[in-house]
Amino acid sequence: MEALECIFTKREIREFKAKEVPEHIIFKILEAGRLAGSAKNRQPWDFILIKDKRRLYELSNFGRYAQHMREAYFAIVIVRSNDYVHDPFDAGRAAQNMMLAAHALGVGSCPITLHDEEKAKKYLGVPEEKRIQVCLDFGYPLAIKRKGKVIRKPLEQILHSEKW
Ligand SMILES: Cc1cc2nc3c(=O)[nH]c(=O)nc-3n(C[C@H](O)[C@H](O)[C@H](O)COP(=O)(O)O)c2cc1C
Repeated sequence: MEALECIFTKREIREFKAKEVPEHIIFKILEAGRLAGSAKNRQPWDFILIKDKRRLYELSNFGRYAQHMREAYFAIVIVRSNDYVHDPFDAGRAAQNMMLAAHALGVGSCPITLHDEEKAKKYLGVPEEKRIQVCLDFGYPLAIKRKGKVIRKPLEQILHSEKW
């Protein structure tokens, strides 16, 4: 898929087929995250790959809108350092890279907030000093809802020319 088409057509996918995502595809998605740029090239992230069905189910209990993770083929939890102002931005770059790479490969995804972060950290064994930025779930899309229709603020509402 061409890069611009990939960016313009990425929609969140919350319904997944019960179909295996091959290892080499998962690897490419992880690579896309690993290769993201970051402030001072600190790469302040770790990725936790979860494929086990029971663990996907249990992890979903730490988010309020995470039920769709139970049907996903896999999830990646983006863990980040908590000692530099740009750490959240960098973690977001890795996350978006992964989701766009997945989309280019025909794999749907959605970001998930693990609202009960402390419990999620304990469950995953994440070191105390780290933060969970976001969890992403992945799988082949069952259906692409609102295909082609993007609900976003119009550019004239958010674009400021030369100054605010
Ligand atoms: C940081 C972040 C956290 C999100 N958390 C959730 C979530 O917990 N559950 C969920 O279903 N979607 C979650 N989303 C997805 C948003 O709802 C989605 O990006 C937005 O509604 C746009 O969707 P669209 O691209 O399909 O129009 C999250 C998105 C971001 C960027």
